[in-house]
Amino acid sequence: MTEDLSPVDRAKFAAARRAADLVEDGMRVGLGTGSTAAWLVRCLGEAVAGGKRIRGVPTSRRTAELAREVGLEVVTLDEARWLDLTIDGADEFDADFNLIKGGGGALLHEKIVATASDRMVVIADAGKEVGTLGAFALPVEVIPFGWQTTRALVEETLAGLDVLGRDITIRMNGEAPFVTDEGNHVLDLHLRRIGAPHRLAMALNQLPGVVENGLFLDICDTVVVGHGDGRAELRDLDPGGVQEDRFEIAEPANLFRDLDD
Ligand code: A5P
Repeated sequence: MTEDLSPVDRAKFAAARRAADLVEDGMRVGLGTGSTAAWLVRCLGEAVAGGKRIRGVPTSRRTAELAREVGLEVVTLDEARWLDLTIDGADEFDADFNLIKGGGGALLHEKIVATASDRMVVIADAGKEVGTLGAFALPVEVIPFGWQTTRALVEETLAGLDVLGRDITIRMNGEAPFVTDEGNHVLDLHLRRIGAPHRLAMALNQLPGVVENGLFLDICDTVVVGHGDGRAELRDLDPGGVQEDRFEIAEPANLFRDLDD
C-alpha cells in the first residue's frame, strides 16, 4: 500500500504511475534502470495485465528480469530498432531538463536507448531537481584496459573546465571495481558544480578510454516530478516553455498486493 512507503518512495511511485499513463497500446518503450524505473516497470506490468500490448527494451539485466517477472514482452533494441518512448529515472535534472544519470551504473545502455526514442520522459522525486548540475558525482564509463591512465587523462582534462571539484573515484563493488553490463568500469567525478555541461561532455567523450559519460543533454523532453504526498507534476519542455499538469494517486494500486520490493 502506498501509505506504507517512505515519502521518497511514494514520490517515486507517484511519478512512475503518472508516466505509465503515457504508454499507449502497441508502443515500443525503453525501460530505465533504478528504483524509480522499477516502479514504472511494475505499473506497466499492471497495464499489460489490463490488456495493453507493450514491448519493452530494458536498459539493464536487472530491469529485464523485473520486466519479464511482471509479464512485459521484452525485446532487444536491435529487434525494436526505434522506440516510441523511453521512461527512466535520473540522479539530477535542471530547468532545461539536462540530466546526470548513471548512479545505478547503466548509463551507457540508458543513453543509447533514450537517444533511439521519439520521446524521453524522466521520472524523479522532487529532491532530484537542481539549479546547476554537479552535486551528484558524474559517472563516466571507461574500459578496464588502462583505466588508471584514463583516470589521469580525465583529471588533466578537468583542469581546463568550469567545475568546482576534481576528485575522481573508481566505483567499487566490494573489494573489486564495479563492472557494468558491458564489462566496463565507472569513474565517479566529484565536480560539485558543472558550469558548462556541453563542453564537459564533449571533452570527456574525446578521451580514448572513455566509453560514455552520464550527462544527458538535450535528450529529455518531459519530467514527471513525484512528491511525498502522492502528487505528480508533468512538465513538458516545448517552445512555449514548461507545461505542468498535476495528478494524485487516487487509491492504492493492485501491484502492492502481488509484489514486494
Ligand atoms: C541508473 O544507471 C541511473 O541512471 C538511474 O536512473 C538513476 O541513478 C536514478 O536512480 P533511482 O531511480 O534509483 O534514484
